[in-house]
Amino acid sequence: MARKFFVGGNWKCNGTLESVSKLVDTLNAGAIVSTDIVEVVVAPPFIHLPLVKDRLRKEIQVSAQNCWVKKGGAYTGEVSAEQLVDLGIPYVILGHSERRHIMKESHDFVGQKCAYALSKGLKVIACIGETLEEREAGDTIKVCAEQLTAIKEAIGENWSEVVVAYEPVWAIGTGKVATPEQAEEVHAELRKWLAENVSAEVAEATRILYGGSVTAGNCKELAKKPNVDGFLVGGAALKPEFIDIINSAQSKVAA
Ligand code: 13P
Repeated sequence: MARKFFVGGNWKCNGTLESVSKLVDTLNAGAIVSTDIVEVVVAPPFIHLPLVKDRLRKEIQVSAQNCWVKKGGAYTGEVSAEQLVDLGIPYVILGHSERRHIMKESHDFVGQKCAYALSKGLKVIACIGETLEEREAGDTIKVCAEQLTAIKEAIGENWSEVVVAYEPVWAIGTGKVATPEQAEEVHAELRKWLAENVSAEVAEATRILYGGSVTAGNCKELAKKPNVDGFLVGGAALKPEFIDIINSAQSKVAA
C-alpha cells in the first residue's frame, strides 16, 4: 500500500491572536490538493490550539508540539496527553530537536512520551536527527538509530500511528537544506532500520518526513525521492508558501 504524503507545519513558539487568525485565514483560502493524496497537519502553540482547531478548514488537522510523559497532575506548566485528547487534538510532535537540545530531553524520555501519547490515542510525529558535529564525525545513522531504538524500546511493535520526522539539526532554521540525495540516503537507511528492528510491514507503511529549511522552492525535488514521504516545515509554515509545500504532494504522485 502506498504511503500517503504528509505535510506538517510546526509553528513553534510563534504568533499572536492576530497573526494566528491571519494565518488561519490564509490557509482556509488557499487551493490545496485533495486529502486523498496528502495528509496535512499544523501544530500551533498550545495556547492557540482551540482557536485554530475551531476556525481552520477541516481538511487540515491540528497537532500539539509536545505533551507530558504521563498522566496529568502536579506538573506545573505541562499539558497532558489526556487534555489534548479531550480537546479533540489528534496529533502530537514529540522529540523535536529543540526539546532534545535546549530542554535536554533524553532519548528515553522521548520514547516514554511517545508510548504514553500513543496509549491515550494520540498519533505521534516522532522527530529524530543529528547535529552538524555528529554528521561530520560520520555518526548520522548511529545517532538516528539510537533515537529510534529508545522509541522502539518504549512502544514495541506499535508503529501504526507514528510518523517519523528526520530533521537534521544543522538544517533547522539555518537555510541549509539537505540535498534531495542527502535526505534520500538517510531516509533509506531509516527504513532499513525499521525493517531490521521492527518489521518489514512497519518499514513499508511508516511515513518518514524530512524537516529542515523546507521551502516552496526546494520541496518539489525533495518530494520526488522515493523514501521522502513528506515534510515537517518550520519557518515556511508561517507563510502563504505553506500552500505550495502542501501541493508538492503532486510532484510525488507524478514521480
Ligand atoms: P525550519 O523549516 O524553520 O528549518 O524548521 C524545521 C523544523 O524544525 C520543523 O519541525
